[in-house]
Amino acid sequence: MKPLLIVANFKSHFTKPEAEKWLSEITNHKSQITNHSDKKVVVCPSFTLLQTFNEYIKEHDLPLEIGAQNVSRLPPGAYTGEVNAEQIKEFADYVIIGHSERRKNFSEDESVIEEKIKMAKDYGLTSILCVRNENDRVYSDISIVVYEPIFAIGTGNPDTPENAEKVAEKIKEKVDYVLYGGSVTGDNVKSFTRVENIDGVLVGHESLDPFEFLNIVKNA
Ligand code: PGA
Repeated sequence: MKPLLIVANFKSHFTKPEAEKWLSEITNHKSQITNHSDKKVVVCPSFTLLQTFNEYIKEHDLPLEIGAQNVSRLPPGAYTGEVNAEQIKEFADYVIIGHSERRKNFSEDESVIEEKIKMAKDYGLTSILCVRNENDRVYSDISIVVYEPIFAIGTGNPDTPENAEKVAEKIKEKVDYVLYGGSVTGDNVKSFTRVENIDGVLVGHESLDPFEFLNIVKNA
């Protein structure tokens, strides 16, 4: 059976000392993740912390993989301020694309998302594509899609597992992994992961506290 996928999206949080504290707490309780070999955990910090996470995970042999939260739609070149897929690949294997916060605050439309997915693929990054509903496009060469309804993100008001399953079932026709995201907690995670077409979760707020996050991994 394929492992459940649990993704932490730290968003624009954590200074370097804060990240190191999070990592050291996870290190102290590493067995809480290694005991669950049927679960794969991906952490997505800010660009500035990718190297910190990468080095710490190697040094302490932590059972975590790394993703970025964004990628340039452009290749390496004269694009001031951009972080490209080749640079990300030095530290990470995954990248979140199409998060509703980027669609809304940075006007990312389907054409930008498509370019980013292509760039990720060209440099060997696995895209974690977020969609808000069934109308957002699910690209054919994507393997991981997260259903994240806007009303559920950061509100403490998750979708119902029944509705999430209905949406997941449709997405599943096109991809290998469908995750649910939006106000996931240690208390509600199992209600999502137990349904047939949901293969994991994307966790925002509750991933910032290492103990809450470990609880989600345990309960998923
Ligand atoms: P949340 O965020 O868990 O804080 O609702 C989820 C996400 O937006 O990735």
